[in-house]
Amino acid sequence: MCGIVGYIGKRDVAPLLLEGLQRLEYRGYDSAGVAVCGKSGLKTVKAKGRVRELDAKLPKRFAGSVGIAHTRWATHGAPNDVNAHPHLDSEGKVAVVHNGIIDNASELRAKLTADGVEFASETDSEVLAHLVGRSEAETLEEKVRHALRSIEGTYGIAVLHADFPDRIVVARNGSPVVLGIGEKEMFVSSDVAALVSHTRQVVTLDDGEMATIKADDYRTYTTEGSRTSASPTTVEWEAESYDMGGHDTYMHKEISEQADAVDRVLRGRIDDRFSTVRLGGLNLDAREARAVRRVKILGCGTSYHAGLIGAGLIESLARVPADSEPASEFRYRNPVVDPDTLYIAVSQSGETYDVLAAVQELKRKGARVLGVVNVVGSAIARETDGGVYVHAGPEVCVVSTKCFTNTVVAFALLALHLGRTRDLSVADGKRIIEGLRRLPAQISEILEREDEIERLAHEYADARSMMFIGRVRGYPVALEASLKLKEISYIHAEAYPASELKHGPLALIEPAMPTVAVVPDDDLLEKNRAALEEIKARSGRILAVAHREQEKADHTIVVPRNEVELDPILMGIPLQLLAYHTALALGRDIDKPRNLAKSVTVE
Ligand code: G6P
Repeated sequence: MCGIVGYIGKRDVAPLLLEGLQRLEYRGYDSAGVAVCGKSGLKTVKAKGRVRELDAKLPKRFAGSVGIAHTRWATHGAPNDVNAHPHLDSEGKVAVVHNGIIDNASELRAKLTADGVEFASETDSEVLAHLVGRSEAETLEEKVRHALRSIEGTYGIAVLHADFPDRIVVARNGSPVVLGIGEKEMFVSSDVAALVSHTRQVVTLDDGEMATIKADDYRTYTTEGSRTSASPTTVEWEAESYDMGGHDTYMHKEISEQADAVDRVLRGRIDDRFSTVRLGGLNLDAREARAVRRVKILGCGTSYHAGLIGAGLIESLARVPADSEPASEFRYRNPVVDPDTLYIAVSQSGETYDVLAAVQELKRKGARVLGVVNVVGSAIARETDGGVYVHAGPEVCVVSTKCFTNTVVAFALLALHLGRTRDLSVADGKRIIEGLRRLPAQISEILEREDEIERLAHEYADARSMMFIGRVRGYPVALEASLKLKEISYIHAEAYPASELKHGPLALIEPAMPTVAVVPDDDLLEKNRAALEEIKARSGRILAVAHREQEKADHTIVVPRNEVELDPILMGIPLQLLAYHTALALGRDIDKPRNLAKSVTVE
């Protein structure tokens, strides 16, 4: 969703800002804008649509060496040039870019309007520009602080003022702000993706923190004004990780990186001596791990599905009751928070608002919350008491693939750890570890069969609707595969437990509604075969993902076997490729599906 970029230094700022915005395009947005402070004061250009449309609108003379820019995802007011950020105050001296939502914007707007302020846009963010502009405080820092005192809601902001051209003032409350520390130049962004091609030294602000950046200096302080010590850390991710690396889409690149990514999440964590794993960031000693009586996993979208597989792993390896629930639902049902339950928040970005809000609600009620997160230092990683980093590397495509797989593997590690503090035997621990070690090679084996999956995708791309079925461990695989297909191909898809077919969805089965069936060689094989018979008897077409050819299926994608507990990890992978090639055959914008954003940082 919305993205912020800012720069102060010696270089010409506009091209740098546009490059930064391009790096944030993956998050999803509908308009963009830029403000630059030059010799003749503040200049802004804004455009509906993509960053390239903003670029085309920039006048030849748009020089300056300090500026801020933004990609907007509309919340208040339609996506158009006027509502795009930056927003200016009435005198055109203050420019503000804002991520988040100001909850009391309509009251502030009414008050300012009564005082004679004319609003240019319909946005909540514009009130900030006017509040800063009207503040009588002497310094820009004081003016911003003054404005923030009236605001209720979430924000990540960057403020530029024509009377203070030597600085940018930023602030964070619920929406990420990261400073990039360069040589006689400073950057700011809402996402390290925009910074890594310039510097790997970053300072991540905490909620309630502000910062002033100047070309050769930065300082951080609280919104109350007391200094904070924020020393830079080094970002691990390389700038090249954000390039397409010879692939046509990020999704394809990310699918094909999965063997390496899984290798990374395992690296350094396996303890062969005790047939267990070491998870340094968990902050849960053996006694605490044993005291856990229940596990509740919370996530959204694909992360919620990874949590479902994770819950199955925890139940089977640690024999602790576990389930996964959409974080968005959880926080609105006034959940009973139980002190013996271990709560786990799952998020690729570590920013998803619904997950963050659920974590905050849980913490307020005294729960212990762990995070399974990909982005190091993200909001959810900071708010939780400990956790497991997923180490998938940056994921740019809006829909998640490699991060999903790595999240499930991270859950397998956690389940193994919990299991080995309880009743999982050394022999079973060893069996799972060996299975985990086989995963990267088996993933590569599946990816080598891309041509076959591409052919199948062409066979099924004419479907208007598709059914995905699986049982127990196979059901979350079906759910995730169905989500993937609908997100990027726009073919309607739904997932059902195979056992539920006869309780309703069988009515839909006909030749025009193919079924994708997840059919591992486990103790439910015969039951799954019976479901295939039921579909065949209604002339339904079937594509099976299985460990051997399925007679009743029209096509079978055969995947290598692992341990039963780990099979779901492998069975999901050909279905990512199926969704990919179906969307490609239909000519969809795979990396940026319509109406979706990579991280949903608002409610
Ligand atoms: C958005 C994305 C999904 C993603 C979900 C959760 O809805 O479009 O692809 O699964 O957010 O994101 P997270 O970063 O918390 O895993």
